Amino acid sequence: IQMSKQKIIVESPGRINLIGEHVDYNGGFVLPAAIDKKIILSFKKNDSSKCNISTLKYNKSFQLDLSHPINRSDVHWENYIIGVIKNIMNLKPGKLQGFDCVIESNLPVGAGISSSSALICGIAKGVNELYNLDLSDDDLIFLAKDVEHNFIGLKGGIMDQFTICKAKKNKLLLLNCTSLDYRYIDANFYPYKILLLNSNVPHKLSDSEYNTRVKECNNAFDVISKKYFKYNFLAEIPEKIIYEFKDELNDKVYNRALYVSQENQRTIKSAELISKGLYSDFGRLMYDSHEGLKNLYEVSCDELDFMVDFSKEHKEILGSRLMGGGFGGCTINLILESFVDEYINKISDEYYKKYSINLESIVGSISDGICVI
Ligand code: GLA
Repeated sequence: IQMSKQKIIVESPGRINLIGEHVDYNGGFVLPAAIDKKIILSFKKNDSSKCNISTLKYNKSFQLDLSHPINRSDVHWENYIIGVIKNIMNLKPGKLQGFDCVIESNLPVGAGISSSSALICGIAKGVNELYNLDLSDDDLIFLAKDVEHNFIGLKGGIMDQFTICKAKKNKLLLLNCTSLDYRYIDANFYPYKILLLNSNVPHKLSDSEYNTRVKECNNAFDVISKKYFKYNFLAEIPEKIIYEFKDELNDKVYNRALYVSQENQRTIKSAELISKGLYSDFGRLMYDSHEGLKNLYEVSCDELDFMVDFSKEHKEILGSRLMGGGFGGCTINLILESFVDEYINKISDEYYKKYSINLESIVGSISDGICVI
């Protein structure tokens, strides 16, 4: 007889992305990994119909009663959890019972390292294990995406959830977001290291602007695919075809499409360069990616541009770009390991002088995806 578990702990990591930004929902390639910053969720059955969720760091808690209809909350973060529970109750009716869940985290929120997906995936994975719901990793990935799309209202791609569920220590994931084929690539950048610098600019605008980008890309694809029907997604349309639509598309939509096509090519090229140990060449593509995100895709901000420009003055840094959705959050930098401490001090001082904001540095190592202890 299999004893069902009474208590489990789930560790759900944040994700970084080396290159391939805003291409996941356009069916292109991304190159993410998980980092060793995570959300830790401790679950315990409580023999009732109630779910008691609390966070240690923010000292917040709330309760749901599974025997009553469950509604959306006015408190934003609670909806990530409510969304998962509602979704699982639809998928596996009558299987879910009450539990206590205590959440700890060393994952900065709003930094573009996907704390929201880590939370959603963490709750789904925990409940799945606690109540033996038989949901596979793929089920969890799509469930998490569905919660974000239909309950939270962010029309994101699959990159974050996929990475959180499938990542491996010291590996990057080269993921084709159309077919979901993927392969692991060694993430050994020695003597360089990945450094994240959190601008600490709250990215408030980002949700609505994000969905606007999704619409603009769909719009570009609709127009182009009327003439070129062999393409199924925007990211796979070659740059030279996009050029033909310069007059037909409005300027913004044209720029978005051009960026997506170029970024997809950069990502494919980057995977090859990293595999061959050609880190300087990869670094240049990181800079190109940032230029595109700033000028064509328009998801950067002053603070992030300042950080990327500042890095260009230091030969110890091979590349730097904004990471994640944009409008704030982090830059990801490829930097000589022996220069990390000196650089953090230097850029933090300059950043504070200019913006009166504290820069936060995260020297992450690349770690395994979600796991149950
Ligand atoms: C957010 C979304 C992802 C992806 C990135 C940008 O993190 O959740 O799906 O689109 O932005 O690359």
